[in-house]
Amino acid sequence: MKPRILLTYYSMTGHTRQLAEELRSALQADLEEIREPRPRHGLSGVLRALFEAILRREPPIGMPSHDPAAYDLLALGGPVWAGRMASPLRSYAHRLAGRCPRVAFFCTEGGRGAQQAFDDLGELCGKAPEATLVVDAEHLPADRHRETLHRFVVKLRTELPAPGQ
Ligand SMILES: Cc1cc2nc3c(=O)[nH]c(=O)nc-3n(C[C@H](O)[C@H](O)[C@H](O)COP(=O)(O)O)c2cc1C
Repeated sequence: MKPRILLTYYSMTGHTRQLAEELRSALQADLEEIREPRPRHGLSGVLRALFEAILRREPPIGMPSHDPAAYDLLALGGPVWAGRMASPLRSYAHRLAGRCPRVAFFCTEGGRGAQQAFDDLGELCGKAPEATLVVDAEHLPADRHRETLHRFVVKLRTELPAPGQ
């Protein structure tokens, strides 16, 4: 039996959504988008994003529609903000990542801070990721990230223990 994968992501400007859609079909995963009761628009949205990232805030998020406890792996993705994982994804990870036995991380970024964001996320989840994937936003939707994406998918699809093991 194949491992059941839940792919949860947050995206403010659409890059991570695009990556998550690509991963969804490659991983045959269920998809959960984190939504916020207070959407971020314009300059004030960007400033709030920066402020929350720097102070490691965990803003309110909407009720998710999937329970991570029903899956073998939770793949968490979002944009890097100020060298940290985007605050709505931090909120989700802190509350819900403990419900799934394994995690993997992916992000989109502008060239700096992905490893620090993953370290921060690993602490919130209380476990190290099975695999990670970093995609520079400039490479979307071009083909330059195909190989790293393929490696991430193969690792999660073929190297995870079968369900129940
Ligand atoms: C508030 C803010 C802070 C950002 N900080 C970083 C950063 O520290 N390092 C980086 O490489 N990119 C940074 N970026 C760029 C985003 O990570 C990148 O554009 C990402 O693909 C956006 O994802 P999204 O479209 O899914 O929201 C930042 C963008 C915003 C809006």
